Amino acid sequence: MRIPIIAGNWKMHKTINEAVQFVNDIKEKVQGTDVEVVICAPFTLLLSLKEAAAGSNIKLGAQNMHWENQGAFTGEISPLMLKDIGIDYCIIGHSERRQYFAETDETVNKKIHAALQHGINPIFCVGETLEERESGKTEAIVKSQIQNGLENISGEDMNKIVIAYEPIWAIGTGKTATPEQANEVIYQIRETIKELYGETIYTEVRIQYGGSVKGSNAEEIMNQEDIDGALVGGASLLPDEFVQIVNF
Ligand code: PGA
Repeated sequence: MRIPIIAGNWKMHKTINEAVQFVNDIKEKVQGTDVEVVICAPFTLLLSLKEAAAGSNIKLGAQNMHWENQGAFTGEISPLMLKDIGIDYCIIGHSERRQYFAETDETVNKKIHAALQHGINPIFCVGETLEERESGKTEAIVKSQIQNGLENISGEDMNKIVIAYEPIWAIGTGKTATPEQANEVIYQIRETIKELYGETIYTEVRIQYGGSVKGSNAEEIMNQEDIDGALVGGASLLPDEFVQIVNF
């Protein structure tokens, strides 16, 4: 049984007051759900969110990290620092980081290794651009992102990794992939996992869909056979929308 996981990705939004208010607004409304609930917030909010979420079922994640424990890397945050706060997840390889901050499959792979070493569960993002989709390259692109991102990751570690399939053309555009389109690629990702890790991990690995998920489309997305959750950007900033998605 794969436990569904709904993760909010707040990107570069919210002050401490707004973040704490958000958690206070939702924590009772998501209590008792069978879904794993995660908020991936900017670094500056994590400590306050940790306190606000204490005693609730809300888990916390970061949105990026460096792969080294420490060093001369101005402006970076290390896995040790995140571990210190006690977060559970870290988004790794989000398309915005690949697009604007020179993230590559190689750095993604280093970060996944580092996260696992420190007991942080990676939410590993993959996905194609519109151009790649239109030229029929979706399957090949996503497959190579999966293979490269997971290089030298053991089968044992695979159950700590959540994969997020996010077609770039559906992120923040209001254009959701149809549930069938999303499920098709997620099915292919699962097949790649089977080739790499065998039958057991193939059935156990959790794969989310991300890209314009909102309260009104969460149920049909989550009802797809191979989709185990959602990585939610814009709609995760609004307490009522996020609660509706969690309680799909
Ligand atoms: P969106 O973002 O829900 O606003 O499309 C998803 C994401 O980038 O994770």
